[in-house]
Amino acid sequence: MKNIAVFASGRGSNFQSVHNEIKAGNIPANVVCVISDKANPPVFEKAHKDDIPTHHINRKQFDSEKEFTDKLLEVLARYETDLIILAGYLKKIPPKVVEEYRYSMLNIHPALLPKFGGKGYYGMKVHEAVIEAGEEKSGATVHFVDEKYDHGPIILQKEVDVKPDDSPQELSDRVLEVEHSILPRVVKAYCEDNIEINKEGVVLKDE
Ligand code: GRF
Repeated sequence: MKNIAVFASGRGSNFQSVHNEIKAGNIPANVVCVISDKANPPVFEKAHKDDIPTHHINRKQFDSEKEFTDKLLEVLARYETDLIILAGYLKKIPPKVVEEYRYSMLNIHPALLPKFGGKGYYGMKVHEAVIEAGEEKSGATVHFVDEKYDHGPIILQKEVDVKPDDSPQELSDRVLEVEHSILPRVVKAYCEDNIEINKEGVVLKDE
């Protein structure tokens, strides 16, 4: 059984998609806590329904970056966290946390990285940019987290069509559906030791 900590800033539908699969007995893991930079995001309500503890931890609560980092590491250690999932978390993860959880921290991004990723590409802005650029395909990406926004090794991507008259909201809805299928799949593979990291990159061995 793996212990998962989810970082999220908002709605929490990706948290829910993973948690549902865990509850159904399909992923050998538990979500041990949800951490947010926000005081009371909707994702906390979802977590509380199943008695999952939540923590509001924001850089502004601390005098220094070091104290903030130490607090995150202390909470993660307290829950014996094996895997961190960034599921709609809008802040940068401190370098020491990235270092400690390298290849044990996933992010889900609503586009086909490396396109439309990095600082400023979040929420509806991603889908607006995809439509603006006239892309015919978009999709979702799950990747390991490194020191740069939306940058670490890609584990799994899935495409969706961008339709000629798509609004950003319509595209976002279609991408979100894909997110809810690929994130639990990668988390399951991680928890079953079915992700191999070698010189060529990351190999998903779940098929
Ligand atoms: C998702 O689109 C995810 O890809 C992005 O932020 C959004 C979070 O949605 N990183 P939710 O809070 O999981 O519903």
